[in-house]
Amino acid sequence: MSYKHQVAEKIAATLASMGVDTLTKEAVYGMLETPPNPAMGDVAFPCFQLAKALRKAPPMIAAELAGQLSGAPLRESQAVGPYVNLFLDQENVAEQVIGTILTQGSTYGNSHVGQGRKVPIDLSSPNIAKPFSMGHLRSTVIGNAIANIMEKQGYEPVRINHLGDWGTQFGKLIVAYRLWGDETKVKAEPIKELLSLYVRFHEEVENDSTLEDQGREWFKKLEDGDEEAQHLWKWFRDESLKEFMKIYDLMNVAFDSTHGEAFYNDKMDRVVTLLEEKGLLTESDGAMVVNLDEYNMPPCLIKKSDGATLYATRDLAAALFRHESYDFAKALYVVGNEQRLHFQQLYKVLEKMGYAWSANMHHIPFGMMLKDGKKMSTRKGKVVLLEEVLAQAISDVQKVIEEKNPTLSNKEEVARQVGVGAVIFHDLKNFRLNDVNFSWEEMLTFEGETGPYVQYAHARACSLLRRGGYQPATTVNLASGALDSKEAWAVITLLNAFPEVIERAADNFDPSQIGKYVIDLAQTFNKFYANVRILAEEEDVKASRLQLVAAVVAVLKEGLRLLGLAAPEEM
Ligand code: ARG
Repeated sequence: MSYKHQVAEKIAATLASMGVDTLTKEAVYGMLETPPNPAMGDVAFPCFQLAKALRKAPPMIAAELAGQLSGAPLRESQAVGPYVNLFLDQENVAEQVIGTILTQGSTYGNSHVGQGRKVPIDLSSPNIAKPFSMGHLRSTVIGNAIANIMEKQGYEPVRINHLGDWGTQFGKLIVAYRLWGDETKVKAEPIKELLSLYVRFHEEVENDSTLEDQGREWFKKLEDGDEEAQHLWKWFRDESLKEFMKIYDLMNVAFDSTHGEAFYNDKMDRVVTLLEEKGLLTESDGAMVVNLDEYNMPPCLIKKSDGATLYATRDLAAALFRHESYDFAKALYVVGNEQRLHFQQLYKVLEKMGYAWSANMHHIPFGMMLKDGKKMSTRKGKVVLLEEVLAQAISDVQKVIEEKNPTLSNKEEVARQVGVGAVIFHDLKNFRLNDVNFSWEEMLTFEGETGPYVQYAHARACSLLRRGGYQPATTVNLASGALDSKEAWAVITLLNAFPEVIERAADNFDPSQIGKYVIDLAQTFNKFYANVRILAEEEDVKASRLQLVAAVVAVLKEGLRLLGLAAPEEM
């Protein structure tokens, strides 16, 4: 139990003895404040809300309460106006916090709120035959971090890569390949070549409008199982997946399912039948739609006039499938903000179908990755390829290592961990809905608020432990005064806050809470390291300080892991 919880429990018990039985310890916990400056105490409790129940002025209540609050983890209580300002017995708190972390290790901050219930998370989901864009990078890193965070909260995440492997664009691609394609070229550089075929298709359409119709026809053939169409489609898919796998391997992301859109091809008739039975399908210009006028939304397109199904149809089938397969606590979709309407429509259609569980589905939108302030477009071939970004980041790190630490063992792996870490962290340190401007410089600086900065703080702390001959232990007996500095206390309060930060990140599906937290912890630790002697101290003082360092190592490592970053011990 964290010290704040202990304080809340004490206050709640004291209040009960004063005759207030309406405030639970959880409610008290929620009322606790952090005083604006440490001279006013470590925690403050405002008494305004009690005036009615106790029929007394808040300052009187504060005085009475302060007089009765004592004992660990408190050192002193003072009434100041309507507030009770509480000073902690910092040594006692330090012992508790460090002891908990050293005992629990990587499980520190785990919670059981998820009760093992499943949470399918739709993430990454790139489109076959197109490059893995920076938008898909965002979905991958945000989704993977959220999956880790949900797992830490006691849920069982199911990472689903809902590949964009179905739809009219495959008809177009087949047409383009049959007209201008070259097998050897596709084999050599599948995505590049398929993309250029796709781009060419859109160029040639300007002069030859029959191409669009041919594309539609070929997609229809594909849906109907035509052999040539199927064969080409499968080949495009396999080749693309091979390339995507390289990226996932580099980033160390794995999926529990790669059921893409095509997987639902034979599950869509059922959706259409259900919609019909429930009387929800209406005709509009030959197409079948679900009307959403009552929600002020455009209709949801289910079937085109030529009978072809759509993105939304496949998402409906996927939603039913996920509900049936996972009986989920929540179902998450980590998809760009530009698809907001699509998901609103999807949920409304499911609601109209009578599925109350649709209320547990959440679209987790994120902002765009812009280049020079503009949107990147695949059609015009204006994209930054993620592979290039990762390769560049890794080679930049390699150079730094060669310069600063050429004898480092495991150089290649560390360069990968740090280079990829830079790219991931660049994304996760800001709230996901903010647009991100793509900039090589920003993505590849290793100073300031970056992943490599945090990784470096962790590696420095590990090196301290090695040099100090730290022996792992779970019982903490601090030498008196060893952690009696504002620098040490700042580290301890941050360490104590980790479980709350995870909870907030989970409740808001917001990994940037953890991104900001690890930066804060790294900076605060660096200040401690710069101002407090560690190795050149008496044995017992040194041992106490090293225990704090070991706790920092554990929390930084776990924080980085949640974000999807490795924490090398040397770099
Ligand atoms: N492939 C889509 C795209 O790149 C994203 C799919 C998101 N997931 C979903 N279930 N709709 O835009």
